[in-house]
Amino acid sequence: MEVAALFALTLLLGALVILVALAVGRRKEEIREEIQQAAAEFAAEGSAVKGAASKKPKQEKQRSRKEKASQHTFSHRLLASSLKAHSANVTCLDFSSNGKYLASCADDRTVRIWSTKDFLDREHKCLRANVELDHATLVRFSPDSRAFITWLANGDTIRIFKMIKKEDGTMTFKAAPEDFPQKHKATILNIGIAETGKFIMSASTDTSIHIWDLKGEVLASINTNQITNSYAAVSPCGRFVASCGFTPDVKVWEVCFGKGGEFKEVARAFDLKGHSAGVHAFAFSNDSHRMVTVSKDGTWKLWNTDVEYKKQQDPYLLKTVPCASSEGSRVALSPDGRVVAISDGSNVAMYNAASGQLEEEMHGVHSEDINDLRFDINGRFLVCSGDKAIRVFHNAPGYRAAIRDMQDMLKKAQNEAMKQRLQQQIKEAQSTLDTVLAAPTE
Ligand SMILES: *[C@@H]1O[C@H](CO)[C@@H](O)[C@H](O)[C@H]1NC(C)=O
Repeated sequence: MEVAALFALTLLLGALVILVALAVGRRKEEIREEIQQAAAEFAAEGSAVKGAASKKPKQEKQRSRKEKASQHTFSHRLLASSLKAHSANVTCLDFSSNGKYLASCADDRTVRIWSTKDFLDREHKCLRANVELDHATLVRFSPDSRAFITWLANGDTIRIFKMIKKEDGTMTFKAAPEDFPQKHKATILNIGIAETGKFIMSASTDTSIHIWDLKGEVLASINTNQITNSYAAVSPCGRFVASCGFTPDVKVWEVCFGKGGEFKEVARAFDLKGHSAGVHAFAFSNDSHRMVTVSKDGTWKLWNTDVEYKKQQDPYLLKTVPCASSEGSRVALSPDGRVVAISDGSNVAMYNAASGQLEEEMHGVHSEDINDLRFDINGRFLVCSGDKAIRVFHNAPGYRAAIRDMQDMLKKAQNEAMKQRLQQQIKEAQSTLDTVLAAPTE
């Protein structure tokens, strides 16, 4: 062996020992990943040492090493697939309400449209929409699943894209002739379109929320009075806009329209009061009857928001559960309200919403902090982003919760036909769960 190679090997072994020592107390998987990575780098190094003739220019070598370091490996029993096509970090995910598509946008100047029906296949095809002369940091589908809106990183405003199906079944994307006017002066937090198709929302950290019509006219502006905002969103029912931030409350407004569809006003609907510190994020169930919040106070809370707030009824607290969270934490509530998922850095925890039981933990899901987390509309999958890949997990806690609910119903069931139907449904759900857990992951 050449002296240089021997020297490199000694260095590497030394580095490995330090690495392993440093990693004591951390999870085995993480350690294994780091060792694998070091070994991969060693292999690359080894070939570079072989001969001066094969030596790559220094710059190129550095770049390839950097690329390797960013090839984050991750595996988990519940990982259904990793969607890979973006060449830069994914920043936002959204499911279409017809359940067919997942949209993702990234710093690589593209929006990708994935087909949810091939999540479990080996190959994951996607369609690409280019964001000319800019890149999108946020993406949201229109209610009819035939358009999407984006937030432009450089343009600092909203651009609408139409999805046009061609005769041969393929799709093209066409940007609206004009972007919305610039209105926000601070970092944008979120955008959304109401499921009713009546308004678009945009929110920034400086406590301002704008309500727009679909043509880009501002209908109303809200000052949340929460000092700074960390998250805001439109409810899935399309009636409400809510925000959270430095103050411990979550504020919810109703965006009101007249009988003829004309905009009337934005009215305070209700507040969620109970946390003892700022709120990182919140999420709604699909019928907006439940909300979940995650706070700096180290807990998540589940709320019943199915109240007649016009008759002064307040939402009420159903559950408070301790959890890990941090600046930028995201929370997702499964459409049926049965499962709560919370991100903390690059980790995700899944809880049973009714019992508060921690059911699943995924560590180091991405190489960077998770920036988006959501369930698909059928509650089968949980997806998240935090680097170039999109991780898709089976919602096993959702299946288990559904089975338990049916077993409870079975105990109370009076007539034989009902019992038989429940038994059949339980059997089916159990077999789906077994199949999901038995399926080979990548
Ligand atoms: C909410 O999700 C559940 C479970 O996926 C579904 O049965 C129900 O129809 C959905 N409701 C709405 C309003 O979308």
